This record gives sequence, structure tokens and C-alpha cells, in this order.
Amino acid sequence: MNIREARAEDFAELYALDQACFAPGISWSKAELGFFLKYPKNFALVAEAEPGRIAGFAIAGTLRRSGVLLGRLITIDVRPEMRRRRAGGDLLRAAEERLRAAGATALLLEVAVDNESAQAFYRQHGFAQTGRIRGYYLGRTDALTMEKPLEGS
Ligand SMILES: CC(C)(COP(=O)(O)OP(=O)(O)OC[C@H]1O[C@@H](n2cnc3c(N)ncnc32)[C@H](O)[C@@H]1OP(=O)(O)O)[C@@H](O)C(=O)NCCC(=O)NCCS
Repeated sequence: MNIREARAEDFAELYALDQACFAPGISWSKAELGFFLKYPKNFALVAEAEPGRIAGFAIAGTLRRSGVLLGRLITIDVRPEMRRRRAGGDLLRAAEERLRAAGATALLLEVAVDNESAQAFYRQHGFAQTGRIRGYYLGRTDALTMEKPLEGS
């Protein structure tokens, strides 16, 4: 997969892709997607199977907690028919490289407790569960918090 920065003209495709990945209410509105893409501490990467054919995208960013710089994975979305072909893994690796280069020491994320495929994907990539947030999604589905060290990895 070729990994590149997301561009403004990708917006409609990224929005449709997110809608295809998540149930209504969990998938983002255009305003939410626009916010995450424009937030200054975030970056967005796109995976292309071939030029012009987007297989998936990732949004990640940095935050500071008790003076420590951390990475936060906001989402990875891979087109359903393009899964298990390494697009997700390539996006995650590229995001980790960016965050490591920025000085982040660990990567954090939240994943729905019923999203077993994403949990398996993250475990395969070295994440471990650190906690659980009650009702994180729509007030009724819990999230697992997961974390992976970035230093020296
Ligand atoms: C999770 C997701 C991003 C994975 O993307 P992907 O491109 O299919 O992942 P990869 O091909 O890089 O998978 C790498 C490894 O992760 C694990 N994995 C990925 N999907 C899996 C699944 N459905 N079940 C079990 N393990 C899985 C496997 O070990 C896989 O290696 P293998 O195919 O050799 O067995 C993708 O399924 C997706 O977009 N899901 C919907 C959106 C979502 O839930 N995103 C996460 C939000 S927190």
C-alpha cells in the first residue's frame, strides 16, 4: 500500500468510507470528521492500493498528559472489501513512525468492547488493554482503552 497525507479533496471519500465502517450514530458527521481532520495537533494518512483508489485512512494526533507527550489514534478505517490486505497495518505503522519522530512515548486508543476484529488487529500490533470506559459510545456501549509503548519499538 502507498501511504500519503490526506488532502482536502479526499474529504467526500473519507466521509463515505467512515459511514461504511461504522453504524449510524457511531460514524462521524461531516462536521465531526472535519473537526478531527483540521485539529492542529492531528494528522491524517491515506492508504492507496493504486493511485486514486483509497483503501483506508487513519487519523492520529498528540496530547500532553502530566508533561509527557503521547500519541492518540483517533481512527483507522479500511474499506470492507479491502480488509486483511495490510492497509490497516501499513497505516498504523506510518502513524507510529510520525508520532515516534514527534517524541511521543506511547500510543493510546479507545475501541468498542464489541469490536472484536479491531481489538484483534490492535493486539496483533502490540497494544494491551489498560482500562474500560462505561457507555463511551452513545451512552450504552463500553470502550476498552488500549496502549502501546512507542519508545524503542
Ligand atoms: C481494524 C481494521 C482497521 C484492520 O484493517 P486491515 O487492513 O483489515 O488490517 P490488516 O490487514 O493490516 O491486518 C493485520 C492483522 O490484524 C489482525 N486482524 C485484522 N483484522 C482482523 C479480524 N477481523 N479478525 C481477527 N484478526 C484480525 C490479523 O492478525 C491480521 O493479520 P492476518 O490477516 O495475516 O491474519 C479494519 O478491520 C477496519 O477498518 N475495521 C472497521 C473500522 C474499525 O473498527 N476501526 C477501528 C476503530 S477503533
